[in-house]
Amino acid sequence: MSKIRHLIDYFIPDNYQLHLDISKAKRQFSGQVVVTGQPLSHEIRLHAKGLTISQLSTDTNSQPRWRQDSDEIIIDDGNAHQITVSFSGQINETAMNGLYLCKYRLDGKNCELFATQFESHYARQCFPCIDEPAAKATFDISIATDDPDDSIVLSNMPGHLQSDGVWQFDTTPRMSTYLVAFVGGKLVSTSGVTKNGVVVSAYATPAQPTSSLDYALTTAIKSVEFYEDYFGVNYPLPKLDNIALPDFSAGAMENWGLITYRETALLITADSSEASRESVATVIAHEISHQWFGNLVTMNWWNDLWLNESFASLMENTAVDYIYPEYNVWDDYEINDVSAALKRDAMADVQSVQQDVSSPDEIATLFDSAIVYAKGERLLKMLLAYIGEPAFRNGLTSYFKKYQYSNTTADNLWDELSRASGLNIKELMNPWLTRPGYPLVAVSLRDNQLTMRQHEFVIGRNPDQDKTWPIPLFTTSPSLPKLLNTQQHTVTWDNPSQFVMFNANDAAHYITQYSYNLLSNIVNNLDQLGTIDKIKLLRESLLLSSADLQDITQTVDLARCAQNETNSAVLSTLSGIIGNLDILVQTDTNDELSLKHFAGQLFSSQFNRLFNDNTSSNRSINDRKALAAVLARSVYGNNQSAINYCLHQYHDHIDNLAAIPGDIRPTVLSSAIKYDDNQVFDDLWQIYQSSQDADLKIDLCAGLTSVISQDRISQLLSYVTNSQLVKPQDVIYFVAWLFANKHARTTTWQWLRDNWPWIRQTFSGDMGYDDFARIAGNNLCSTDELAEYDRFFADVTAKDQVLVRTVRIGHDSIVNRVRWIQRNQPVLGELLKKYQ
Ligand code: BES
Ligand code: ZN
Repeated sequence: MSKIRHLIDYFIPDNYQLHLDISKAKRQFSGQVVVTGQPLSHEIRLHAKGLTISQLSTDTNSQPRWRQDSDEIIIDDGNAHQITVSFSGQINETAMNGLYLCKYRLDGKNCELFATQFESHYARQCFPCIDEPAAKATFDISIATDDPDDSIVLSNMPGHLQSDGVWQFDTTPRMSTYLVAFVGGKLVSTSGVTKNGVVVSAYATPAQPTSSLDYALTTAIKSVEFYEDYFGVNYPLPKLDNIALPDFSAGAMENWGLITYRETALLITADSSEASRESVATVIAHEISHQWFGNLVTMNWWNDLWLNESFASLMENTAVDYIYPEYNVWDDYEINDVSAALKRDAMADVQSVQQDVSSPDEIATLFDSAIVYAKGERLLKMLLAYIGEPAFRNGLTSYFKKYQYSNTTADNLWDELSRASGLNIKELMNPWLTRPGYPLVAVSLRDNQLTMRQHEFVIGRNPDQDKTWPIPLFTTSPSLPKLLNTQQHTVTWDNPSQFVMFNANDAAHYITQYSYNLLSNIVNNLDQLGTIDKIKLLRESLLLSSADLQDITQTVDLARCAQNETNSAVLSTLSGIIGNLDILVQTDTNDELSLKHFAGQLFSSQFNRLFNDNTSSNRSINDRKALAAVLARSVYGNNQSAINYCLHQYHDHIDNLAAIPGDIRPTVLSSAIKYDDNQVFDDLWQIYQSSQDADLKIDLCAGLTSVISQDRISQLLSYVTNSQLVKPQDVIYFVAWLFANKHARTTTWQWLRDNWPWIRQTFSGDMGYDDFARIAGNNLCSTDELAEYDRFFADVTAKDQVLVRTVRIGHDSIVNRVRWIQRNQPVLGELLKKYQ
């Protein structure tokens, strides 16, 4: 990696006076920036990308010599304390970063907003600046627009429209450029005030009902109040806006005081699913936690981006568990994030959480969310459980107080947490953070001796026997050690039938393999386990089978033991197991039929309980959350009542599909596609084109992509590249779901290869670019496909270094999958015969 020059070594900015004139009609903007600060070298360098500079002067020289390269303006003046630059640029109409355009339709007319996305290094596409997180400064922003319809312009701080038609915003506190933001256009909104007087608002385009902002507003207010208490530091700005944008590259972005979201990540209606409510709440809580961790205190450089994101991931669940305890978010964290982390982190070539990065362009190469978000969160959660919440919170409060409005490294946080806990936190955490992978602890009981032995858990290669971790064990027995920091440890164990469980509540990042006698004690006490421990048991048996440490018999047996469970997270886990078993059967075979029959049986008691007329009007939150998995797997299992139920729901709501309850809507729509007539496809596609309801559109996409007809599959794929028909932000859903549809996989794989130039052109600057490669690695499953994959991606990675790691891990996943199928296909065939 080349060592990059940091521009803050040339000039330390203190304040920006930034004025912008934005013309949506011309797709252009022009502006002037006055940067004041401290010179440190013989020249000054400002970041500027794609900007045309018309004038440049300094306080010491009205015409200094300067030149521009692709990323910077280099000014021959080492004495200036103030630089004034006039510039102009294009509003981005293709990529959703820098200053860009969002499009939506209202009353049959095309409408537009302008918005910004500056993380990680796109502020430089909008105005000349020192575009590095450590270069904190205050900002005085003013904005004029040429569009009288722009009812409002928002930025980080409160603003007002002056008599000259210019929006003037209050001075910001010291902050990093990547957190600067503004949005302008017609908007609807709702507002409230926190206990401490912060004005919180939620905004959307007028194509959305204002009432769809109510849930977000309540959640945002409660989140601010929760964090003020939890962190012991007040929210520092007078206001906090939350805005849903109709075009958005990521899920959401924590700009200080002006958080931007995808519409699906903020808006909630009466028909939204429980899953949407929970996910909207966690996204809001995630971004609001960044207002402290990330915005008030910021990483010195991008190599500590993981800390921002892992921490916000931990806090999103902590806050939502407090605000909405009835959701049981930690159960869902267990099925989503923990599963993703354990699966990904067992791959041979995976990255560590903490990774060096010298240029922000490299950030995209290390942005593996299963690691940076999910594993990082799991490690912080392990640390919290180990040192206890009081020490954790005390450490945080002193960290925020000490470093507010400035920058830190991870070590600064470890120091504060060490002080608060009296332990050496860096020593505990570094082996987990700086190395990939995690340990398996094998526990066995023989002759009154209980032995625990750790080794690396890795799928598809031999474990490195010498690699060990300091493992907080979290066992259920006080006589066992708290920490295993050697390879092996043995204790005397007098009572062989005593129940003992390792990693209770799945608090640490390791998995357990028990000897038969110990496992039997656990399985015999299944009823006494909490939800998380049940999920853990099921998932670990599947993981052990992926590493060839056992076949899938135990997994199938455990799944059968769990068939009367009513907890939604356990039911989702069972659904996930069926999804895994489905990889083992070919379409239209007897094995497939038997597996479907097995799934139908597995879910039948819950289907009967949840979809019976007496219970449907008054379901608990748990039961509403369970509907999706139970209905989907019952339909998969050819349960005729379930299929009929879906077709009825479809016909009852044919004039207003948005009114189908969100929890079951994807399954209802895909059942209508599969089991109703051919016309349904055209109807759903037509509604997809006209609807402005982003949640409904996702569900329509789920329905459309479950189609079986080859003509229809080709038709859908031909629409995907047309941005008039499918917004670029939504392309990934079509591709991912078609790839996962067995009937569409071959065609979609061919399409992906044929259309790679378009994918590259449209998404290569985007965080989600590598998802297109990842999807292939997650779904291909034969040796022929493996050869095609290798051939195709060898050419792709020759051009795109960013994809190298993803492609390598994708290759390994296909190899592992092929081997897993070979071993387990006959095993499943036999098991299904037994359970017929
Ligand atoms: N700061 C990130 C988004 C981001 C990261 C933008 C890196 C550009 C570069 C934001 O806080 C985030 O994590 N968003 C998530 C949603 C979150 C709830 C998991 C996203 O967009 O997926
Ligand atoms: Zn984040």
